[in-house]
Amino acid sequence: MSEERAKKRRTGKREKREGREGRRKQKEKKEKQREEREEEGGKRAEKKKTENRTVEKEEKKEREGRGKEKKRERREGGIEEEEKREEEEETEEKENRERKKRDKGNKKKMRRKEEKKEETREEGGRRRRKRNRKKQKREEKWRRRRNRGEENRNERVQFSSLTSGLGSALVAAVIGFLLYKRHRRHKEALARLAREREEILNSGGGKTAKVFTGKQIKKATNNFSKDRLLGTGGFGEVYKGVLEDSTVVAVKCAKVGNTKGTDQVLNEVRILCQVNHRGLVRLLGCCVELEQPLLVYEYISNGTLLEHLKGKLNGGLTWIHRLNVARDTAEGLAYLHFSAVPPIYHRDVKSSNILLDDKLNAKVADFGLSRLAETDLSHVTTCAQGTLGYLDPEYYRNYQLTDKSDVYSFGVVLLELLTSQKAIDFNRPPDDVNLAIYVKRVVEEERLLDAVDPDLKKGASEMELETMKALGFLAVGCLEERRQNRPSMKEVTEEIEYIISIATSKPEN
Ligand SMILES: Nc1ncnc2c1ncn2[C@@H]1O[C@H](COP(=O)(O)OP(=O)(O)O)[C@@H](O)[C@H]1O
Ligand SMILES: [Mg+2]
Repeated sequence: MSEERAKKRRTGKREKREGREGRRKQKEKKEKQREEREEEGGKRAEKKKTENRTVEKEEKKEREGRGKEKKRERREGGIEEEEKREEEEETEEKENRERKKRDKGNKKKMRRKEEKKEETREEGGRRRRKRNRKKQKREEKWRRRRNRGEENRNERVQFSSLTSGLGSALVAAVIGFLLYKRHRRHKEALARLAREREEILNSGGGKTAKVFTGKQIKKATNNFSKDRLLGTGGFGEVYKGVLEDSTVVAVKCAKVGNTKGTDQVLNEVRILCQVNHRGLVRLLGCCVELEQPLLVYEYISNGTLLEHLKGKLNGGLTWIHRLNVARDTAEGLAYLHFSAVPPIYHRDVKSSNILLDDKLNAKVADFGLSRLAETDLSHVTTCAQGTLGYLDPEYYRNYQLTDKSDVYSFGVVLLELLTSQKAIDFNRPPDDVNLAIYVKRVVEEERLLDAVDPDLKKGASEMELETMKALGFLAVGCLEERRQNRPSMKEVTEEIEYIISIATSKPEN
């Protein structure tokens, strides 16, 4: 192995040696070639050198020429540059100077500014102080003024309250005076109106009717208190009242549907007030100040005929009492029909409108009330035109109520006196509900006395029974279907008087 390695090493060395040898030879060769080249080159270079030298000479000449020119130029340029530089230096200096100046100026300015600032600061301070002083002074002034103002205001308030007090007192006095004047004017107007109304009421002569004020009526009826209520009829409530002169009155509300205007009502009341008969309840006057016209009647103390017949007040009415009631009523109605100017038709004759006094004298109430109502047929109430059971059958034919209508109604009242039964009673057999129809049938059957009140027949003399029959026939005559077949109230009165004369005549021995 080591042999191989030595061999290899030897071959390696040899190879290296050979390599070195080769490289040296190559070097020498190269040097030779270089020398040759240099020689050639030297010759060429020399040639070239000469050429170059000539060229260089030419160029030098040229360069020199150019250099000279350049030099000249440079010289000239140098001068210029110098000038330039000088100028630049000058300008620089100038600038520096100016800068310095500026700086100085600025500094000065700054200083001045600062001084000024200082001054202004001081000035400002001074001014501020001055301002503050002024402000303080002003505030002091204001305070003083305010205090003074307040004092003044207080004084003024005192003064103004005094003056306003005086002013309001004056205003109140003026208002009071005006109100008083207005009140007086109002009072005078009312008095004038009352006078005018009384004049209307009493224009027929004979001062009898009175126009009552609402105040008077309210006072008289204790402001329409319930304990003063006498009853409620078809027209409204009736109150008992006491006037200032202690006259006892019945105040009736004339609720008759559409009442006429105040003047017309006064006119109608005037007519009714002029009626003065012992068989009629006296109308004293009226009040037109309140909502509805109010009629003031004399007060009749003993209730109505209806109450007497129904409840048999005071132990019941005797036959003679009943005949007297019939006569009084007939006389009153006859007076209305024949003596009143213009004639007055009652239009609502019934037992509840016949009032009895202490001596059982009868007085007809509510006559002519329908006159207060507007005569428009579509508006009149049945109340104003009579009451069922008393109503003239002819009324259904021509809607007219005449004196004979009152006669018909009075016929029903006569039957009530005879029988003590109600004009309409549904407790009777259906055919006998209407008293007039019932008694007419009984009369036709010639058994009139069967219908007479048993209490009346009890213990009655033959004569009395005859007078009962006579009154029954008179009633049937009043209840005739046709008006012209009915007697007048005058005839009826005469007949009743005749009957009374028989009834009261002393029996012959
Ligand atoms: N002048 C008077 N005096 C006393 N009482 C009266 C008078 N007028 C009416 N009355 C009473 O007032 C009641 C009501 O009367 P009114 O309104 O006429 O009703 P009616 O329709 O029954 O007649 C009567 O029933 C009667 O008792
Ligand atoms: Mg009445």
